[in-house]
Amino acid sequence: MRRHMCVVMPMREGFAESLTDIYEARVTAGTLRADPAQLDAIPALDEIRQWLEVQAGAKRSFLSRFRRTPEAPKGVYLWGGVGRGKSMLMDLFFAATDIPRKRRVHFHAFMQEVHRGMHAARKQGVDDALEPVAQAIIADVACLCFDEMQINDITDAMVVGRLFTMLMDAGVVIVTTSNRPPEGLYKDGLNRALFLPFIALLRDRMEVMELESPTDYRQHRLTGAQVYFHPAGAARAAIDAIWRDLTGGAAGEALALTVNGRTVEVPRFANGIGRATFWELCARALGPGDYLAIAGAVRVLILEDIPQLSASNYNEAKRFVTLIDALYEARVKLIASAADEPERLYIEGEGSFEFERTASRLREMQSADWGTVDGN
Ligand SMILES: Nc1ncnc2c1ncn2[C@@H]1O[C@H](COP(=O)(O)OP(=O)(O)OP(=O)(O)O)[C@@H](O)[C@H]1O
Ligand SMILES: [Mg+2]
Repeated sequence: MRRHMCVVMPMREGFAESLTDIYEARVTAGTLRADPAQLDAIPALDEIRQWLEVQAGAKRSFLSRFRRTPEAPKGVYLWGGVGRGKSMLMDLFFAATDIPRKRRVHFHAFMQEVHRGMHAARKQGVDDALEPVAQAIIADVACLCFDEMQINDITDAMVVGRLFTMLMDAGVVIVTTSNRPPEGLYKDGLNRALFLPFIALLRDRMEVMELESPTDYRQHRLTGAQVYFHPAGAARAAIDAIWRDLTGGAAGEALALTVNGRTVEVPRFANGIGRATFWELCARALGPGDYLAIAGAVRVLILEDIPQLSASNYNEAKRFVTLIDALYEARVKLIASAADEPERLYIEGEGSFEFERTASRLREMQSADWGTVDGN
């Protein structure tokens, strides 16, 4: 069993300020509120950062070949309720870690890459398809940051243990965020007994830390903010501003979700925030399973350009109802731009009576405390 080595790294000449310093500078600048739980989580991340930087520095030096590489520190598994600042802390760590071989990736997107790689290896007749995939990652990075680790899929559940073991054995340091403790991963999943060794691995080789902040900062940022805009056309700038505020100005990229072997895409995604137009989500032949997957993958959905609905776009309206139901059940925060008030979106045609419930949900989802319950 590997034990955590608490090595105090010598401060190099010109070594950057500590993560705590960077955090505190942001508090002084007013972009962050000082949060003791967040401050408690920072030193473990800083230890990893220092180790990685020393390693990267040593690799560059001629003498490094003759130096014994100290054992990699444990990774960090940071978990807690929504909006507590897990991704923010991981981003702080990631940006400040001055090494070239690092990668931050949404866990789900990463696992899809792994499966694609394994598929390609099998096609070439490789027996152990995971081996070349892991080796390629090891050749590429010294540090992997996974945002939003969750395991819902048996194919992920069955490979993730070996993959992590291979990466960790090769000295790749893993930092991950999750809404659940390790024991809550793949809960009630098929063949869960086979997954239990992975939980033990996380407990053994990662520093598992709960971010016990009482504040949901995302909610905090949205409290009092307008979240339903009409008419849609005039709302673009306001919605762009919300996107910038919640994602830190990320460009966002498509998030591909696998549902029953098919791929469903949220066209823009960053830091738990999904963004799509009504047409992208409701004018395609998507069903309840697809909307549940989308609702499970985002904390906030920005849905733009909801049109006036009627019998002439009945299918779109029906899908919209299903989408809102899925978002409602998962307590996803919705930011929307629409042609009119919720109650006036679908006033005539088949299903308009049932739409009353959707309109009422749309109203409720605008309330300031909507989405504050954890664990979705
Ligand atoms: N101490 C803080 N002061 C002000 N804003 C904060 C603070 N911590 C986090 N935030 C902001 O709150 C929002 C939510 O934080 P973040 O995305 O890191 O939460 P999270 O814990 O990753 O949530 P989730 O589990 O939903 O992914 C972000 O916009 C982030 O920048
Ligand atoms: Mg997050």
